[in-house]
Amino acid sequence: MKKITTILALSLAMGLQAQQHVMTVDVAKPTAKIQPTMYGIFFEDINFGADGGLYAELVKNRSFEFPQPFVGWVPFGNVTIQSENPCFDRNPHYVRVVNDGRLLRAGLDNEGFTGIGLKQGEEYRFSVYTRTLDAGSMKLSIELVRADGSNPLKKEIEIKGNEWKKQTVILKSPFTDAHARLRIVLLTKGTVDMDHISLFPVKTWKGRENGLRADLAQALYDLNPGVFRFPGGCIIEGNSLATRYQWKNSVGPVENRPLNENRWNYTFKHKAFPDYFQSLGLGFYEYFLLSEDIGAEPLPVISCGLSCQYESNEIVPLDELDPYVQDALDLIEFANGDVNTTWGKVRSEMGHPEPFNLKMIAVGNEQWDKVYVERLEVFTKAIREKYPNIKVIGSSGPSASGDKFDYLWPEMKRVGVDLVDEHYYMEPKWFLENAKRYDSYDRKGPKVFAGEYAAHDHPTGKANNLFAALSEAAFMTGLERNADVVHLATYAPLFAHVDAWQWNPDLIWYDNLRMMRTPNYYVQQMYGMNAGTDVLRLQMDGEPVAGQDSLYATAALDAPTGEIILKLVNVGAKPSDVKIDFNGLKKRQLVSGSCIYLQNDDWKTVNSLEQEILVPRVRPVQVKGQSMNIQLPARSFGVYRLQLN
Ligand code: AHR
Repeated sequence: MKKITTILALSLAMGLQAQQHVMTVDVAKPTAKIQPTMYGIFFEDINFGADGGLYAELVKNRSFEFPQPFVGWVPFGNVTIQSENPCFDRNPHYVRVVNDGRLLRAGLDNEGFTGIGLKQGEEYRFSVYTRTLDAGSMKLSIELVRADGSNPLKKEIEIKGNEWKKQTVILKSPFTDAHARLRIVLLTKGTVDMDHISLFPVKTWKGRENGLRADLAQALYDLNPGVFRFPGGCIIEGNSLATRYQWKNSVGPVENRPLNENRWNYTFKHKAFPDYFQSLGLGFYEYFLLSEDIGAEPLPVISCGLSCQYESNEIVPLDELDPYVQDALDLIEFANGDVNTTWGKVRSEMGHPEPFNLKMIAVGNEQWDKVYVERLEVFTKAIREKYPNIKVIGSSGPSASGDKFDYLWPEMKRVGVDLVDEHYYMEPKWFLENAKRYDSYDRKGPKVFAGEYAAHDHPTGKANNLFAALSEAAFMTGLERNADVVHLATYAPLFAHVDAWQWNPDLIWYDNLRMMRTPNYYVQQMYGMNAGTDVLRLQMDGEPVAGQDSLYATAALDAPTGEIILKLVNVGAKPSDVKIDFNGLKKRQLVSGSCIYLQNDDWKTVNSLEQEILVPRVRPVQVKGQSMNIQLPARSFGVYRLQLN
């Protein structure tokens, strides 16, 4: 009996091994164009994504405008907040330090964002606006202080005269510390006023003074994103209308951009961050510039006159909507207008006379109900009238299905928006089961923008693990197969500070010195770097490959290189043998190929700041003739690039 069971098991195993999946790719006739915007990124100031993250400023509350003006600061000695005869009218508070003659007894420390990250040998640009009310000259000591307080690096600057002046000094850090502090001490007897106290690494992204953290911006560039959505998310709605994102406050001299509350400060009661504000130092000009740097189409989102409908739900009456609509029109002028226009001039004076070539704009974020549609109609009409070539994006609400979604989609068609923004934060299982979501979408209506999505693996605390990443990769085969309907897709959220986050999972994590790319990041990158230009029909048993035997697949042509690109996902626990026949090649043959893949047998694998276990690896692929045999490793996502003669 035992022998028979063994034979049975053996032959079963052999049978399983011998089972080969046969897929076909029709090369002759592409089925759809893949938009260059297809795979992109979405940035929002959540999880200390801007101040304390991408925006490289190291000083928190640099303008003393937080409601409690010493948040972030430890003043010592006679230090007060003043606002008379200020340096900046929209940021009127400044600090007054008085030294009565006792050395080291008057000044202030800044704690940064959960500390100030300094690297040994790196240079930091300190700047401050100062004046003194005394006749003589004053001396300030500018100090980089280790977390343990020992041996600070010091440099002195001299202050003279009662007119506000900017002072700058470069400090080279003699140590590495993720939790250092900045200290400013008035060394001489007398009074000094200071405002906009700032510290930036000299090495920012592209060396810009009001710049971005170089490693984080580089990580965005490395995704090769086609579109860049900003600045939110719920950020644009605000907890109230007063705290909505107003883009006009985010342009012009950085010192005079007024502070705004961050909508994510008290959102989660178990994870409140009362010190979370938006300096707007990373504003619309910087967002447009970054879009240009990373080669992505800018996609700004603007307030539609509704505050967050989950929170205060304030509604601007229709007959008072004009200023909001005007903000949208002015934004288009800021991005594209001639240097002689009001807003084109502002852009030009900021350093960019050439237009940013804005092509689309989203009205509202996750809004719903009639109140939204009524406002969207007003915006759409006004934008179409003045800028008929600008595409308008509407919302389908906060979820992938349900009453709000079902109401909004037909309304979006009626209003005639160009694209509809869909959001889904769902379990990995949902992503695996929805790889065919767009196969049956209406081809004649607005296009789809999958504006926010991420697989939330609840049992693991929503970890950025391989399971989540592969389920996203699997789902994305369905986005690509339906590229005639889906024109844009952006994972969310993008960034999170490991010591100050509100929402997970997120694509990129960092502390004050280091950065970590998640497996989800690598999935996005593998798609972004290998988007292709035209969808090719790929089938198994006459069907799209969307979950049969745990497999997901899509094929594309890359017109500039002439290569065929396959994206193959095996979410199963066993390797899978696949034969792929390429039809319609006529006399052409496959001559070479390469594969980049992400794999681990353990679903729960995650990357950390200490080690990225999951990174794409390259392996050779043998191809010959008009078909190829490959084995897809268990729990893997592979991108194959195949060359033809
Ligand atoms: O990405 C985080 C949040 O999720 C966004 O701000 C919002 O649009 C969605 O609810």
